[in-house]
Amino acid sequence: MALLEVEGIDVSYGSVQALRNVSLQVSAGERVALLGANGAGKTTTLRAISGLLAPTKGSIRFADAEIGGLPAHAVVGHGIAHGPEGRALFPTLSVEENLRFGFLPRRKTDPGKFAEQLEEVYEFFPRLFERRKQAAGTMSGGEQQMLVMARALMSAPKLLIMDELSLGLAPKIVSLLFEIIRSVNERGTAVLIVEQFVHMALANTDRAYVLAKGEVVLDGASKRLADSEELLASYLGGEAAPEPDVPKQSRRRPDARKRTATQPDDPSAPRDARQRRNGSTAGRSKKASKR
Ligand SMILES: Nc1ncnc2c1ncn2[C@@H]1O[C@H](COP(=O)(O)OP(=O)(O)OP(=O)(O)O)[C@@H](O)[C@H]1O
Ligand SMILES: [Mg+2]
Repeated sequence: MALLEVEGIDVSYGSVQALRNVSLQVSAGERVALLGANGAGKTTTLRAISGLLAPTKGSIRFADAEIGGLPAHAVVGHGIAHGPEGRALFPTLSVEENLRFGFLPRRKTDPGKFAEQLEEVYEFFPRLFERRKQAAGTMSGGEQQMLVMARALMSAPKLLIMDELSLGLAPKIVSLLFEIIRSVNERGTAVLIVEQFVHMALANTDRAYVLAKGEVVLDGASKRLADSEELLASYLGGEAAPEPDVPKQSRRRPDARKRTATQPDDPSAPRDARQRRNGSTAGRSKKASKR
């Protein structure tokens, strides 16, 4: 039995149904990516898992317990920590004070363990140790994302969930974050990540699920998906799906693989494809400026 088992969940915002019959699994020690275009339902899925939204149908089981619909503080207690979209740090508090919030769920069960846990987290993030007295809001975007991950790890989770890991960050920092995720995972924490750079997500995970319009449309080994035409099609809302009556050999577009592996905002990607992959460029830039 998998560590996390999401089974057929629906989630709505009022009358707007955002997820339909979504199922996914994460096994102990696994790294899984959740991919999909803007508005596909990735954040909604993560928020349902971590108790910020209640599904109207289906179940979410974690380590054999039903957690669907539990409040977020109870879900953390079960061993799921969520680094949210938009980071949500306390900007005027220091790095160490922010990390203290991450330990709150354990203050009663492990009262003497704060210093030990802090030391372990600083081993993953020496940069945060150097900056432990600095106000979180004055740090670089990459450092703030490290702090989001570090704060989540303070609860010693069995599953770490990260939304929009690389948003707004330089490729070098993103690689560093993935390296840290690898070390965290090697120490036994399962990971579920939402990541806009598809090829990086697939290169750094074991399996992936692809959402489109609130439904899982594709899943499988990350290595296999990296070569898949269907992945591109799901990002383009089905526009790239092959014509049913065309022989398979001639359907294969010679550049499909390259374009699948291209970063969504890579300036070398065809402009048209970039726009459609991001929903619309206006949507992405509006969102980026919101943060
Ligand atoms: N608070 C909300 N109220 C109403 N609808 C919402 C709300 N939040 C999200 N939605 C809708 O639910 C759908 C899924 O949104 P979600 O934020 O989960 O997408 P996403 O895959 O995370 O997108 P992005 O890549 O832009 O972060 C979208 O159609 C969105 O407009
Ligand atoms: Mg999102």
